Amino acid sequence: MRLDKFISNCGYASRKEVKKLIKQKAVSVDGAIAKSHDMNISDDAQVTVNGAVLSYREFVYLMLNKPSGYVSATEDKKYPVVTDLVSGEYAHFDVFPVGRLDIDTEGLLILTNDGKLAHELTSPKKDVYKKYFAVLDKPAQRSDIEDFAKGMEFKDFTAKPAIMEISENPCEVYIQISEGKFHQVKRMCERIGKSVVYLKRVSIGKLVLDEALELGEIRELTDDELKLLKA
Ligand code: URA
Repeated sequence: MRLDKFISNCGYASRKEVKKLIKQKAVSVDGAIAKSHDMNISDDAQVTVNGAVLSYREFVYLMLNKPSGYVSATEDKKYPVVTDLVSGEYAHFDVFPVGRLDIDTEGLLILTNDGKLAHELTSPKKDVYKKYFAVLDKPAQRSDIEDFAKGMEFKDFTAKPAIMEISENPCEVYIQISEGKFHQVKRMCERIGKSVVYLKRVSIGKLVLDEALELGEIRELTDDELKLLKA
């Protein structure tokens, strides 16, 4: 692996900054001062910057409490994107969002650079349930639960059976779907004659949004949370 990639994946510095550190003779590899940022190093090399030993990791898994107004993408011509919210020690990992939430949807979004896990979580074959809290413009009824449980035919896709739970306030519902088709929750609610006025994702599989995270805040998944996600 290239030395600059190693250092940036440790979250220590960007590849550009690594060049500067090399010039300052601040980087050493297995005890010898490094001379170039693009030198190849072995996987088990001991790299230090200003005397501190770096520990390498390839993947990072972040939980974001997505605010409204951000597009679930890494770039967009018109709007801010969720990866704009990634800063500090995670800024140097090329993370991307796992699946999409609409621009006006809030809540749980995973950001990672692990393409394999992202694929597994979003593959329709894997049936990973995502749970949403929705506020409707009209109260939900028992018959809506049954309609959701039957699945729904749309012009462009068939929604698999979904689970609706009605809260004490019948305009507030929890909806679980195992796919993630474009505007799926909103479209399923339109089908039962209701508009979604607020939508927030609260869980993906067994992983639950940390309610202590403010909107726009990011934190790394704990080892236990990562296990839940991979389960
Ligand atoms: N369903 C929607 O309609 N919107 C989302 O953001 C997610 C699921």
